[in-house]
Amino acid sequence: MTVNDPSSTSLQLTADGQLRHFLTLDGLDRTLLTEILDTADSFIEVGERSIKKVPLLRGRTVVNLFFESSTRTRSTFELAAKRLSADVLNLDISTSATSKGESLSDTLLNLEAMASDMFVVRHSQSGAPHFIAESVTPGVAIINAGDGRHAHPTQAMLDMLTIRQHKGRFEGLKVAIVGDVLHSRVARSQIRALNELGAAEVRVIAPATLLPRDVESLGCRVEYDMARGMKDLDVVIMLRLQKERMEGALLPSEREFYRLYGLNQEKLALADPGCIVMHPGPINRGVEIESAVADGPQSVILNQVTNGIAIRMAVMSMAMGGQVADRNRKLAEGAHG
Ligand code: NCD
Repeated sequence: MTVNDPSSTSLQLTADGQLRHFLTLDGLDRTLLTEILDTADSFIEVGERSIKKVPLLRGRTVVNLFFESSTRTRSTFELAAKRLSADVLNLDISTSATSKGESLSDTLLNLEAMASDMFVVRHSQSGAPHFIAESVTPGVAIINAGDGRHAHPTQAMLDMLTIRQHKGRFEGLKVAIVGDVLHSRVARSQIRALNELGAAEVRVIAPATLLPRDVESLGCRVEYDMARGMKDLDVVIMLRLQKERMEGALLPSEREFYRLYGLNQEKLALADPGCIVMHPGPINRGVEIESAVADGPQSVILNQVTNGIAIRMAVMSMAMGGQVADRNRKLAEGAHG
Protein backbone atom coordinates (compact mmCIF):
# COMPACT_ATOMS: atom_id res chain seq x y z
CA MET A 1 0.00 0.00 0.00
CA THR A 2 1.22 3.50 -0.78
CA VAL A 3 -0.31 6.44 1.06
CA ASN A 4 -1.03 8.41 -2.11
CA ASP A 5 -2.72 5.41 -3.60
CA PRO A 6 -5.69 6.48 -5.78
CA SER A 7 -7.53 3.64 -4.03
CA SER A 8 -7.88 6.01 -1.04
CA THR A 9 -10.58 7.82 -3.06
CA SER A 10 -12.72 4.73 -3.49
CA LEU A 11 -11.89 3.72 0.08
CA GLN A 12 -13.09 6.95 1.64
CA LEU A 13 -16.05 7.68 -0.63
CA THR A 14 -19.24 5.69 -1.21
CA ALA A 15 -20.31 4.77 -4.75
CA ASP A 16 -22.31 8.02 -4.96
CA GLY A 17 -19.51 10.22 -3.59
CA GLN A 18 -20.45 10.51 0.08
CA LEU A 19 -17.75 10.47 2.73
CA ARG A 20 -17.51 7.17 4.65
CA HIS A 21 -13.95 7.43 6.02
CA PHE A 22 -11.83 10.58 6.32
CA LEU A 23 -8.22 9.64 5.62
CA THR A 24 -6.75 12.30 3.34
CA LEU A 25 -7.85 15.34 1.34
CA ASP A 26 -6.36 13.75 -1.80
CA GLY A 27 -9.15 12.91 -4.18
CA LEU A 28 -11.77 15.09 -2.43
CA ASP A 29 -13.10 17.85 -4.69
CA ARG A 30 -14.07 21.45 -3.98
CA THR A 31 -17.76 20.57 -3.69
CA LEU A 32 -17.14 18.03 -0.93
CA LEU A 33 -14.67 20.28 0.93
CA THR A 34 -17.22 23.10 0.78
CA GLU A 35 -19.92 20.74 2.07
CA ILE A 36 -17.68 19.93 5.07
CA LEU A 37 -17.17 23.67 5.74
CA ASP A 38 -20.91 24.42 5.40
CA THR A 39 -21.84 21.51 7.69
CA ALA A 40 -19.29 22.73 10.26
CA ASP A 41 -20.76 26.23 10.03
CA SER A 42 -24.12 24.81 11.01
CA PHE A 43 -22.53 23.17 14.09
CA ILE A 44 -20.87 26.36 15.36
CA GLU A 45 -24.22 27.48 16.75
CA VAL A 46 -24.50 24.23 18.76
CA GLY A 47 -21.30 25.18 20.61
CA GLU A 48 -22.86 28.51 21.58
CA ARG A 49 -26.00 26.99 23.16
CA SER A 50 -26.31 26.33 26.89
CA ILE A 51 -27.07 22.66 26.08
CA LYS A 52 -24.38 21.82 23.52
CA LYS A 53 -25.84 18.63 22.06
CA VAL A 54 -27.47 17.26 18.92
CA PRO A 55 -28.59 13.61 18.63
CA LEU A 56 -26.86 12.71 15.33
CA LEU A 57 -24.59 9.99 16.79
CA ARG A 58 -26.84 8.91 19.65
CA GLY A 59 -26.27 5.25 20.48
CA ARG A 60 -23.01 5.17 18.48
CA THR A 61 -19.64 4.34 20.01
CA VAL A 62 -16.60 6.41 19.00
CA VAL A 63 -13.13 5.22 20.01
CA ASN A 64 -10.29 7.74 20.17
CA LEU A 65 -7.22 5.70 19.34
CA PHE A 66 -4.17 7.91 19.85
CA PHE A 67 -0.80 6.22 19.39
CA GLU A 68 0.92 9.63 19.53
CA SER A 69 0.48 12.43 22.03
CA SER A 70 -2.08 15.13 21.41
CA THR A 71 -3.85 17.86 23.36
CA ARG A 72 -6.06 19.92 21.04
CA THR A 73 -6.87 17.27 18.48
CA ARG A 74 -7.79 14.59 20.98
CA SER A 75 -9.86 16.82 23.25
CA THR A 76 -11.76 18.47 20.38
CA PHE A 77 -12.51 15.06 18.82
CA GLU A 78 -13.82 13.94 22.21
CA LEU A 79 -15.96 17.06 22.64
CA ALA A 80 -17.21 16.81 19.05
CA ALA A 81 -18.31 13.19 19.56
CA LYS A 82 -20.00 14.09 22.86
CA ARG A 83 -21.81 17.05 21.28
CA LEU A 84 -23.11 14.61 18.66
CA SER A 85 -24.39 12.46 21.61
CA ALA A 86 -22.05 9.50 20.93
CA ASP A 87 -20.55 7.33 23.67
CA VAL A 88 -16.81 7.98 23.64
CA LEU A 89 -13.97 5.74 24.64
CA ASN A 90 -10.51 7.29 24.94
CA LEU A 91 -7.89 4.62 24.67
CA ASP A 92 -4.60 5.51 26.24
CA ILE A 93 -2.25 3.43 24.15
CA SER A 94 0.72 3.85 26.48
CA THR A 95 -1.19 1.94 29.20
CA SER A 96 -3.02 -0.44 26.83
CA ALA A 97 -2.07 -3.93 25.68
CA THR A 98 -0.03 -2.51 22.78
CA SER A 99 2.70 -1.90 25.32
CA LYS A 100 2.43 -5.61 26.21
CA GLY A 101 3.18 -6.55 22.60
CA GLU A 102 -0.33 -6.78 21.12
CA SER A 103 -0.38 -5.98 17.38
CA LEU A 104 -2.43 -3.12 15.94
CA SER A 105 -4.67 -5.65 14.14
CA ASP A 106 -5.39 -7.54 17.36
CA THR A 107 -6.16 -4.33 19.27
CA LEU A 108 -8.61 -3.40 16.50
CA LEU A 109 -10.29 -6.82 16.43
CA ASN A 110 -10.95 -6.46 20.16
CA LEU A 111 -12.36 -2.97 19.79
CA GLU A 112 -14.56 -4.11 16.89
CA ALA A 113 -15.82 -6.93 19.14
CA MET A 114 -17.08 -4.19 21.49
CA ALA A 115 -19.32 -2.97 18.63
CA SER A 116 -17.53 0.31 17.97
CA ASP A 117 -18.86 2.46 15.12
CA MET A 118 -15.94 4.80 14.55
CA PHE A 119 -12.20 4.93 15.22
CA VAL A 120 -10.40 8.25 15.37
CA VAL A 121 -6.77 7.32 14.74
CA ARG A 122 -3.51 9.18 15.32
CA HIS A 123 -0.36 7.25 14.50
CA SER A 124 3.33 7.98 13.91
CA GLN A 125 3.31 5.76 10.79
CA SER A 126 2.13 7.42 7.56
CA GLY A 127 -0.69 5.31 6.15
CA ALA A 128 -1.81 3.65 9.42
CA PRO A 129 -5.43 4.96 9.23
CA HIS A 130 -5.58 3.90 5.56
CA PHE A 131 -4.40 0.42 6.52
CA ILE A 132 -7.06 0.20 9.24
CA ALA A 133 -9.81 1.42 6.87
CA GLU A 134 -8.87 -1.33 4.40
CA SER A 135 -9.28 -4.08 6.95
CA VAL A 136 -11.98 -2.85 9.33
CA THR A 137 -15.46 -4.42 9.53
CA PRO A 138 -17.88 -2.82 7.01
CA GLY A 139 -19.91 -0.10 8.70
CA VAL A 140 -17.08 1.19 10.91
CA ALA A 141 -15.79 4.65 9.95
CA ILE A 142 -12.10 5.59 10.27
CA ILE A 143 -11.10 9.21 10.80
CA ASN A 144 -7.45 10.24 10.44
CA ALA A 145 -6.31 12.46 13.34
CA GLY A 146 -2.77 12.76 11.93
CA ASP A 147 -0.54 10.03 10.46
CA GLY A 148 3.24 10.45 10.42
CA ARG A 149 4.24 13.18 7.99
CA HIS A 150 1.44 12.25 5.61
CA ALA A 151 -1.84 14.00 6.39
CA HIS A 152 -3.89 15.77 9.04
CA PRO A 153 -7.11 16.41 7.16
CA THR A 154 -9.33 17.65 10.01
CA GLN A 155 -6.65 20.18 11.01
CA ALA A 156 -6.47 21.51 7.44
CA MET A 157 -10.26 21.78 7.28
CA LEU A 158 -10.53 23.66 10.57
CA ASP A 159 -7.89 26.01 9.21
CA MET A 160 -9.94 26.47 6.02
CA LEU A 161 -13.03 27.22 8.13
CA THR A 162 -11.06 29.84 10.06
CA ILE A 163 -9.76 31.43 6.85
CA ARG A 164 -13.27 31.50 5.33
CA GLN A 165 -14.68 33.13 8.48
CA HIS A 166 -12.09 35.89 8.43
CA LYS A 167 -11.62 36.42 4.71
CA GLY A 168 -15.02 35.35 3.35
CA ARG A 169 -13.47 33.53 0.38
CA PHE A 170 -10.44 31.61 -0.91
CA GLU A 171 -10.25 33.10 -4.41
CA GLY A 172 -7.45 35.63 -4.71
CA LEU A 173 -5.88 34.83 -1.34
CA LYS A 174 -2.12 34.66 -0.86
CA VAL A 175 -1.21 32.25 1.90
CA ALA A 176 2.20 31.33 3.31
CA ILE A 177 3.17 28.35 5.45
CA VAL A 178 6.36 29.04 7.41
CA GLY A 179 8.88 26.77 9.11
CA ASP A 180 9.20 23.02 9.45
CA VAL A 181 7.28 21.90 6.36
CA LEU A 182 9.48 18.80 6.07
CA HIS A 183 7.94 17.05 9.09
CA SER A 184 4.49 18.59 8.85
CA ARG A 185 1.44 16.51 7.94
CA VAL A 186 -0.55 19.70 8.60
CA ALA A 187 1.27 21.60 5.83
CA ARG A 188 0.68 18.82 3.30
CA SER A 189 -3.05 18.79 3.97
CA GLN A 190 -3.26 22.60 4.03
CA ILE A 191 -1.51 22.94 0.64
CA ARG A 192 -3.93 20.44 -0.86
CA ALA A 193 -7.01 22.16 0.63
CA LEU A 194 -5.92 25.68 -0.35
CA ASN A 195 -5.28 24.64 -3.95
CA GLU A 196 -8.55 22.76 -4.25
CA LEU A 197 -10.53 25.63 -2.75
CA GLY A 198 -8.99 28.13 -5.16
CA ALA A 199 -6.41 30.19 -3.23
CA ALA A 200 -4.42 32.40 -5.62
CA GLU A 201 -1.02 31.46 -4.24
CA VAL A 202 0.41 29.09 -1.65
CA ARG A 203 3.98 29.87 -0.57
CA VAL A 204 6.18 27.90 1.72
CA ILE A 205 8.86 29.88 3.55
CA ALA A 206 11.64 27.83 5.12
CA PRO A 207 15.31 26.92 4.92
CA ALA A 208 16.05 24.21 2.33
CA THR A 209 16.81 21.72 5.13
CA LEU A 210 13.20 21.97 6.39
CA LEU A 211 11.52 21.43 3.02
CA PRO A 212 10.64 18.09 1.45
CA ARG A 213 12.42 17.44 -1.83
CA ASP A 214 9.15 17.27 -3.79
CA VAL A 215 7.65 20.37 -2.17
CA GLU A 216 6.80 22.31 -5.37
CA SER A 217 4.99 19.30 -6.76
CA LEU A 218 2.59 19.58 -3.80
CA GLY A 219 1.32 22.83 -5.33
CA CYS A 220 3.26 25.69 -3.77
CA ARG A 221 6.00 28.22 -4.46
CA VAL A 222 9.19 28.17 -2.38
CA GLU A 223 10.61 31.27 -0.75
CA TYR A 224 13.79 31.08 1.35
CA ASP A 225 13.74 34.72 2.40
CA MET A 226 11.09 35.58 4.99
CA ALA A 227 10.95 39.32 4.19
CA ARG A 228 10.25 38.60 0.52
CA GLY A 229 7.83 35.81 1.42
CA MET A 230 5.72 38.02 3.71
CA LYS A 231 4.94 40.55 0.96
CA ASP A 232 1.20 41.00 0.21
CA LEU A 233 0.20 38.02 2.37
CA ASP A 234 -3.44 37.59 3.45
CA VAL A 235 -2.76 34.61 5.72
CA VAL A 236 0.44 33.44 7.42
CA ILE A 237 0.52 29.98 8.98
CA MET A 238 3.39 29.28 11.38
CA LEU A 239 4.56 25.72 12.11
CA ARG A 240 6.30 24.23 15.12
CA LEU A 241 9.80 22.78 14.75
CA GLN A 242 9.04 19.06 15.14
CA LYS A 243 12.23 18.15 16.96
CA GLU A 244 10.86 14.72 17.88
CA ARG A 245 10.83 13.80 14.17
CA MET A 246 14.24 15.30 13.31
CA GLU A 247 17.14 13.01 12.65
CA GLY A 248 20.46 14.84 12.79
CA ALA A 249 21.02 18.59 12.79
CA LEU A 250 18.75 20.36 10.32
CA LEU A 251 19.22 23.79 11.88
CA PRO A 252 22.23 25.81 12.99
CA SER A 253 20.39 26.76 16.22
CA GLU A 254 16.94 27.73 17.43
CA ARG A 255 18.12 31.30 17.89
CA GLU A 256 19.28 31.49 14.31
CA PHE A 257 15.99 29.95 13.12
CA TYR A 258 14.02 32.54 15.08
CA ARG A 259 16.11 35.38 13.69
CA LEU A 260 15.52 34.25 10.11
CA TYR A 261 12.05 32.67 10.19
CA GLY A 262 10.42 33.51 13.54
CA LEU A 263 7.35 35.71 13.21
CA ASN A 264 7.63 39.00 15.07
CA GLN A 265 5.74 42.27 14.69
CA GLU A 266 8.38 43.70 12.40
CA LYS A 267 8.10 40.84 9.90
CA LEU A 268 4.30 40.74 10.18
CA ALA A 269 4.20 44.43 9.22
CA LEU A 270 5.56 43.41 5.78
CA ALA A 271 2.34 41.50 5.01
CA ASP A 272 -1.02 42.98 4.00
CA PRO A 273 -2.38 44.99 6.99
CA GLY A 274 -5.37 42.61 7.20
CA CYS A 275 -3.16 39.50 7.29
CA ILE A 276 -4.29 36.89 9.83
CA VAL A 277 -1.81 34.79 11.83
CA MET A 278 -2.45 31.07 12.29
CA HIS A 279 -0.72 28.16 14.01
CA PRO A 280 -1.99 24.57 14.49
CA GLY A 281 -0.41 24.42 17.95
CA PRO A 282 1.34 23.59 20.12
CA ILE A 283 3.13 26.95 19.81
CA ASN A 284 6.68 27.51 20.97
CA ARG A 285 6.91 31.16 21.94
CA GLY A 286 10.24 32.70 20.99
CA VAL A 287 11.08 29.76 18.70
CA GLU A 288 8.74 30.24 15.73
CA ILE A 289 6.50 33.05 16.99
CA GLU A 290 6.78 36.04 19.30
CA SER A 291 4.18 36.35 22.10
CA ALA A 292 3.12 39.82 20.96
CA VAL A 293 2.10 38.29 17.62
CA ALA A 294 0.63 35.03 18.97
CA ASP A 295 -1.58 37.01 21.38
CA GLY A 296 -1.96 40.06 19.11
CA PRO A 297 -4.96 41.44 17.22
CA GLN A 298 -4.11 39.63 13.96
CA SER A 299 -3.87 36.21 15.64
CA VAL A 300 -6.75 33.74 15.09
CA ILE A 301 -4.95 30.84 16.79
CA LEU A 302 -7.63 30.26 19.42
CA ASN A 303 -10.42 30.58 16.83
CA GLN A 304 -8.76 27.63 15.09
CA VAL A 305 -9.15 25.56 18.27
CA THR A 306 -12.85 26.46 18.62
CA ASN A 307 -13.45 25.64 14.96
CA GLY A 308 -11.83 22.24 15.47
CA ILE A 309 -14.92 21.04 17.34
CA ALA A 310 -17.35 22.07 14.57
CA ILE A 311 -15.17 20.58 11.81
CA ARG A 312 -14.82 17.30 13.69
CA MET A 313 -18.56 17.17 14.31
CA ALA A 314 -19.10 17.71 10.57
CA VAL A 315 -16.66 15.02 9.46
CA MET A 316 -17.85 12.45 12.01
CA SER A 317 -21.53 12.93 11.22
CA MET A 318 -20.91 12.89 7.44
CA ALA A 319 -18.79 9.70 7.62
CA MET A 320 -21.39 7.94 9.77
CA GLY A 321 -24.07 9.01 7.28
CA GLY A 322 -21.99 7.55 4.44
CA GLN A 323 -21.56 4.25 6.30
CA VAL A 324 -25.32 4.03 6.89
CA ALA A 325 -26.02 4.78 3.22
CA ASP A 326 -23.54 2.06 2.21
CA ARG A 327 -25.22 -0.44 4.47
CA ASN A 328 -28.70 0.40 3.21
CA ARG A 329 -27.52 0.04 -0.37
CA LYS A 330 -26.04 -3.38 0.37
CA LEU A 331 -29.24 -4.48 2.13
CA ALA A 332 -31.32 -3.31 -0.84
CA GLU A 333 -29.02 -5.14 -3.27
CA GLY A 334 -29.36 -8.27 -1.12
CA ALA A 335 -33.16 -7.95 -1.13
CA HIS A 336 -33.19 -7.70 -4.91
CA GLY A 337 -30.53 -10.32 -5.50
C1 NCD B 1 0.09 19.22 14.86
C2 NCD B 1 0.25 17.72 14.67
O1 NCD B 1 0.21 16.94 15.62
O2 NCD B 1 0.41 17.36 13.52
N1 NCD B 1 -0.65 19.61 15.94
C3 NCD B 1 -2.02 19.48 15.94
O3 NCD B 1 -2.57 18.47 15.61
N2 NCD B 1 -2.74 20.56 16.30
C4 NCD B 1 1.35 19.96 14.67
C5 NCD B 1 2.46 19.80 15.66
O4 NCD B 1 2.53 18.85 16.42
O5 NCD B 1 3.34 20.68 15.63
